[in-house]
Amino acid sequence: MTSPRLDATIAIIGSGFIGRGWAARFAAAGAQVRLWDAEPGVPAKALAWLDETLPAMEKLELIADARGARARVTGHATLEDAVRGVDYIQENAPEKLDLKRELHARIDAADCAGAVIGSSTSTFPGTKIFTGLRHAARCLVAHPANPPHLLPVVELVPMPVTSPAATERCRALMAAAGQVPVLLKKEIEGFVMNRLQAGVIGEAMSLIADGVIEPDDLDAVMRHSLGLRWSFMGPFETMDLNAPGGFMDYATRYGGVLQALGRDLGVAKPWTREAMEKVEAARRSRIPAGDLVKRGTWRDRRLMALAAHKHATNRKEGE
Ligand SMILES: NC(=O)c1ccc[n+]([C@@H]2O[C@H](COP(=O)([O-])OP(=O)(O)OC[C@H]3O[C@@H](n4cnc5c(N)ncnc54)[C@H](O)[C@@H]3O)[C@@H](O)[C@H]2O)c1
Repeated sequence: MTSPRLDATIAIIGSGFIGRGWAARFAAAGAQVRLWDAEPGVPAKALAWLDETLPAMEKLELIADARGARARVTGHATLEDAVRGVDYIQENAPEKLDLKRELHARIDAADCAGAVIGSSTSTFPGTKIFTGLRHAARCLVAHPANPPHLLPVVELVPMPVTSPAATERCRALMAAAGQVPVLLKKEIEGFVMNRLQAGVIGEAMSLIADGVIEPDDLDAVMRHSLGLRWSFMGPFETMDLNAPGGFMDYATRYGGVLQALGRDLGVAKPWTREAMEKVEAARRSRIPAGDLVKRGTWRDRRLMALAAHKHATNRKEGE
């Protein structure tokens, strides 16, 4: 259970899927959270979502005090008001480079000289977003998984010009919020999470295009094998435990076969229209388009239950 321990004021700029998730995470950890969005109705929608989500998290003992957390979040009418004097700004605007650059120029001109500024961007290196800003030394990428209140990893990607002090402040704030910050040592397109994801998704699309498997069965392979294991350990620990002598034994036994398979993968093949239509048809036969929001809530509840299970097990094992 997260007990409030984050003494900070945080502005959430862009309060859609990712912004509202950050708001839940930061407020549950004790921060004062200010929401702003370019669409005037969005902060109120995010607050209504928090009204539902925070109590559901409390019920599973993922957070301590839903009502207290909710009271710490406020909607703001202007960006300038939201960022004034805050300790940290998390930007979650749409993934369009020009839009992000314009938005950060506006933040740069506002009254937030003490703030570290993180972008949730999924793809753009910080250098593309922040170059030319007065306060670039206080800016970095802080890329979450979706939704950030339930999937705790956050990839911190400083630019060469980001000051080590700003990176460390962001790391400490994320850790205090209950996230798992990981530091990337250099800027790279897609960071680490999405590069790994692109590998798996690219091969999945290629297997559909080649007629090897149906979309439902491919999802079943992931859900009932790799996904179960990967929910509590990574690929290196998996390899370490899959041969009696540990990682080097695994690499010696299976490295050749896996590298040969790697050369044969369709990860970089273009996604064919036909394969995309096949996956879309399979998905819509399972979940009609009108039920996607409901299914998203189902996903979040399943993630909450998994997170609660992991917390309880970690406590028992003293991790
Ligand atoms: N959805 C994901 O799976 C995911 C995961 C990790 C990171 N991200 C990144 O998070 C960011 C936000 O994605 P999302 O999924 O929350 O999208 P979203 O569409 O749900 O939310 C974006 C919000 O930004 C608002 N907005 C539009 N123009 C704006 C502007 N100029 N200034 C401020 N707000 C503006 C929109 O009204 C909307 O509420 C993107 O950079 C995305 O790449 C998304």
